[in-house]
Amino acid sequence: MSNRPMTADLQRVVVIGPGEVGRRLMRALATAGVQANPVTRDIGWEAIAGSGAAPILVCVREEALPAVFDRLGGVDPDRLVLVQNGWIRPLLGGWESASRALIWFTSKGEFFRELRPSLFGGTLAGPLVAALHRGGLDVAAVGDPEFRAAEAEKMGFNCVVGLPLAVHGVSLAEYLDQWTDEAHALFDESTTVCARALGVDPAPGWWHEFRRAVAPIGWVRAASAKALKFRNGAVLRLADDFGIGVPVTARLLAAAGYRPDEP
Ligand SMILES: NC(=O)c1ccc[n+]([C@@H]2O[C@H](COP(=O)([O-])OP(=O)(O)OC[C@H]3O[C@@H](n4cnc5c(N)ncnc54)[C@H](OP(=O)(O)O)[C@@H]3O)[C@@H](O)[C@H]2O)c1
Repeated sequence: MSNRPMTADLQRVVVIGPGEVGRRLMRALATAGVQANPVTRDIGWEAIAGSGAAPILVCVREEALPAVFDRLGGVDPDRLVLVQNGWIRPLLGGWESASRALIWFTSKGEFFRELRPSLFGGTLAGPLVAALHRGGLDVAAVGDPEFRAAEAEKMGFNCVVGLPLAVHGVSLAEYLDQWTDEAHALFDESTTVCARALGVDPAPGWWHEFRRAVAPIGWVRAASAKALKFRNGAVLRLADDFGIGVPVTARLLAAAGYRPDEP
């Protein structure tokens, strides 16, 4: 029997990190009749060795990825699907051939809302999307150029729905209403820099699509800005590399006390 990751109908997946995203994906897979084995920090790791070529959905946060990669040493990278939406490319190393997802739903406790179709790219995108769609999620599989453009676009979301809310102490709706110009500039800085890093062109409609998509989550607040290294901090670092200015990003990061060397 081949030990390559399966590309036909899924029967079984492993889900590392059954938190907000992981549990929603597991629920949809279960609805679709796919067996999903959860793996937490402490339990389930032995199932990976015994799971043949079953895809492994890595649903931990960005900052936990290096520890998970260490524990997965020796596993075929083509079995992995990474769902982190932050700037994780510098972490990938030998795992670059992993499939990836850009999650466009918001899950927080009881709240669950799909804002746009979640996008999957890579060799496992097709079978996963088929199963998740059967399980009731709004998902689509896209090719590499589309995925890279969508990744740059999602960084606009990541950089606006977080840092500036913490700095100004407002909800997303209040921020977009009262600091519209700053929000738009921050979105443009983030998407422009990431699009350049990914070799794609930002589309003129991204900002308006973002405004439309986030309307149901205007209540979101950020008590503190999290994972900045993978969001606005990554934009600042890339902009420095390109020798271009990102003044709104730099000002907001400084206001949050961000240090570029923070772990
Ligand atoms: N939530 C959303 O609506 C949403 C939307 C779009 C994108 N995302 C992205 O999805 C990713 C996951 O976010 P989330 O909201 O699902 O986070 P989460 O609720 O904190 O879930 C992360 C899970 O990973 C587990 N974990 C951490 N380190 C681990 C390790 N070494 N081994 C095994 N499990 C480990 C955590 O367990 P512990 O509880 O023990 O820490 C937790 O169950 C993030 O990159 C986020 O940006 C989330």
